[in-house]
Amino acid sequence: MIEIKNLHVKIAETDTMILNGVDLTVKAGEVAAIMGPNGSGKSTLSYVMAGKEDYEVTEGDILLNGQSILEMEPDERAAAGLFLAFQYPVEIPGVPTMNFLKAAMNSQRKARGENELTTPEFIKQVKEAAGRLGISMDMLKRSLNTGFSGGEKKRM
Ligand SMILES: Nc1ncnc2c1ncn2[C@@H]1O[C@H](COP(=O)(O)OP(=O)(O)OP(=O)(O)O)[C@@H](O)[C@H]1O
Ligand SMILES: [Mg+2]
Repeated sequence: MIEIKNLHVKIAETDTMILNGVDLTVKAGEVAAIMGPNGSGKSTLSYVMAGKEDYEVTEGDILLNGQSILEMEPDERAAAGLFLAFQYPVEIPGVPTMNFLKAAMNSQRKARGENELTTPEFIKQVKEAAGRLGISMDMLKRSLNTGFSGGEKKRM
């Protein structure tokens, strides 16, 4: 669950206030879509949640499962489960998709104090997730995102 409480945010360098008291609660399993005019602060909100530099929270808080994330680094937020998806996922030729997924998954597990997965366990989980997302085994055998369509990259 994410709770945003009375969030006030300014651009650190220029003191320009961008967000002036945002409240939002998203419960586990819910999907929230934030809509608003250009320049109303949607991207700013997602950057602040992900922990991008350049912004300063002057009032309010962001809680992930009851715990404030404001003092956490972006990688710590990611390990806790909060991450900003890439608008344009990068292609990494030469890095097999499966190696990348395994490294990412095991670093998450390590951060949670869990054991690394064995290769058979890992492959089982990848196959399940790939099946749900309509990602073929052929795609998993290629280099990370290399030559994938825009939609395929997003699903990957
Ligand atoms: N570094 C900055 N310096 C000054 N103003 C900024 C800076 N970054 C963002 N802003 C301003 O903050 C406001 C909110 O921008 P933001 O990108 O969050 O809007 P948005 O809701 O995502 O808009 P869009 O629908 O166009 O994507 C805008 O007026 C923008 O110009
Ligand atoms: Mg935007």
